[in-house]
Parts: sequence; structure tokens; C-alpha cells
Amino acid sequence: MAIILTSALKKSFGRIEAVAGVDLSIQKGEIFGLLGPNGAGKTTTIGMLCTIIRPSSGSAFLAGYDVVREPSRVRRQVGIVFQDPTLDTVLTGRENLELHARLYSVSSRVRKERIEQMLELVDLRHRADDITRTYSGGMRRRLELARGLLHRPAVLFLDEPTLGLDPQTRARLWEYIKKTAHAEQTTIVLTTHYMEEAEQVCDRVGIIDHGRIIALDTPEKLKETMGGEMVVVRAAKQPLEKIRNLPYVSEVRENDGTLEIITKEAHRHLPKILSLMKDVHCVEMRVPTLNDVFIKLTGRDIRDDTVEDAGSWVDSIARYRQRGS
Ligand SMILES: Nc1ncnc2c1ncn2[C@@H]1O[C@H](COP(=O)(O)OP(=O)(O)OP(=O)(O)O)[C@@H](O)[C@H]1O
Ligand SMILES: [Mg+2]
Repeated sequence: MAIILTSALKKSFGRIEAVAGVDLSIQKGEIFGLLGPNGAGKTTTIGMLCTIIRPSSGSAFLAGYDVVREPSRVRRQVGIVFQDPTLDTVLTGRENLELHARLYSVSSRVRKERIEQMLELVDLRHRADDITRTYSGGMRRRLELARGLLHRPAVLFLDEPTLGLDPQTRARLWEYIKKTAHAEQTTIVLTTHYMEEAEQVCDRVGIIDHGRIIALDTPEKLKETMGGEMVVVRAAKQPLEKIRNLPYVSEVRENDGTLEIITKEAHRHLPKILSLMKDVHCVEMRVPTLNDVFIKLTGRDIRDDTVEDAGSWVDSIARYRQRGS
């Protein structure tokens, strides 16, 4: 059963078409990822689904309720972790949850127990009575996750839940998210810039660019569309026609002294490919990633657009240094 169903969903802000006609069908219990660069329309799409943003046209249903005509019913079915932190930092962790439970009319009978359960789920019981200003970024994110789940929503929206966190904290947060999806039978719709994580966590992924879904499938199927494995070669500039003409090579891309060759059965064909090249500095062979899929579809690296993403800055600096060395 589709718990989220949209048809030609659109949102314009003046001349900007933030979401340009999105059709989605997300199943109950699914972990669904929306991937795309800055400004692609991810937050706007989520905003419409949880009734914060009014669509310009098209339709969207959540748990059978119309987001425009029945917003209060929809709201009762959803939990949200916003892209920007929204905890009240002068309250303690427990007080933040208490406040949310009251706002969502979680009955006083089950409230206390639910709060304890959620604190347990995200490993925050030992800090529950400290004000959240004293929490680390990862702890605040975990508390927001607990808060989003407190009223047992059918759908949990997570907008960049791990942005700016260190890799270890990100990995742990995903563990909580997966654990929750299973334990609570919650459908999860998330956005993230971390492609590798989307691959590991999501059942299906929708790649969104300029307000449109340009590909949608399981991570495995999306990667299969690349038509082979990746051979990445650092080498001096050279003619590539012969490599392009090899029957098993589906694509050759050149970027700054790095060649990316997509070929079937890379392990078998690598010697032949290398024999057609000169001055090779180094070679790497790997299966394609969702980032490769994104580059193939859009011609851009998702990370190049992600300015506020501390993690990718570190990556960029590392890549820059590598190039210089
Ligand atoms: N309230 C608003 N008023 C005007 N334009 C807006 C508004 N909200 C979003 N936009 C524009 O709509 C487009 C989509 O924005 P959105 O926030 O949905 O992108 P996003 O995919 O979530 O990006 P990011 O990865 O940076 O969070 C952008 O061009 C943005 O500038
Ligand atoms: Mg956003």
C-alpha cells in the first residue's frame, strides 16, 4: 500500500519553480531517500508532504489524507526532523520531549513510558536531565530523532539528519534510524548529501534535480544502469578514441588528468585498456556509486554544489591536496 502518493506535485516561489511536477509512490515501512544537490527541491517536497508548504498545483496524499484539504489529519501522522536544528536549548532533553508529547496530545498515561523508551533508543538517558545547550551536535540530532518519533508517526521525515556530523556519529545515527524503522514500522523519507550512506540505508532512492525526479529505483538497480564497473586512471593527456571504441567500454570521461572508464567485467578487460594508454600514474577499479550515477545523469558531482556541507569540504581539500602532490 502506498502511504505517500503524489501526482504532478508543484511548488513555485515567484519565478523559481522549486518543485516542478513530482510523482511519488512510497510504500508503508519503506526507507526512501531523496538525493539531489543544493536547491534541487528536497526540503520543499518534504515541506509539502508534511503540510508546512502549500503546493502550487498537483496533489499529495499521506496515509490516505489530502495534504491540502486535511492538513491536521496529515500532521498527526507525521514526525519531522528539520534540516535546521529546532530544539529548545534552555530545556533539558527530557523537557523537550515532554513539551512535544503535550503538543501532540500523547496521553498522560503513556507519555512518561514513551519518553523513557525514546531516550533509551537514542542512548540519551544518562544526559536526559541536562539542558540541551550542553549537548554535542550528534546528541542534539539524536534527541531530535527521538522527538520526531515520540507520537508514533506513520511517516518520519528526516531532512539532512546527519549534515555536518563526523563520520562515526553519522554511522551511529543511521543505526538508530534503521533500528527505529524496523521496531516502530515507521516509513522514513529522508534527504541526504552523503551518497554512500543513502546507498546503505535506503530501500529506494529518488534522484532529484531542478525540482524533478530524474531517476528512481533501488540503489542496486540505479548502479546497474551505469552498465559496468569503473576504472579510474590517472594519466598524462592522450588520445582516447581507441578506448572509446572498445565494445565493452560504455563510457569514457576525462576530468583534470583523471580518466573514468566504465566497462563491463573490468578485471578481464583492464590489461587491454591499459595497453592502449601511456604514462599511467595510477589505476583504481571499483563498482559504481550513487554519486557516479548522479554525475552520469546530470553531468555534475553532487558534492560540488554542497557548499554548507563541512564533510565535503574536507573531501575537496583532500582531493585538492592529492592533485597537488
Ligand atoms: N521560501 C522560499 N522563497 C523563495 N524561494 C525558495 C523558498 N524556499 C525554497 N526556495 C527556492 O526553491 C529551490 C529549492 O529549495 P529547497 O530548499 O527545496 O532545496 P533543497 O533541495 O532542500 O536544497 P538543500 O540541499 O540546499 O537543502 C531553491 O532554488 C530555493 O532557493
Ligand atoms: Mg534542503
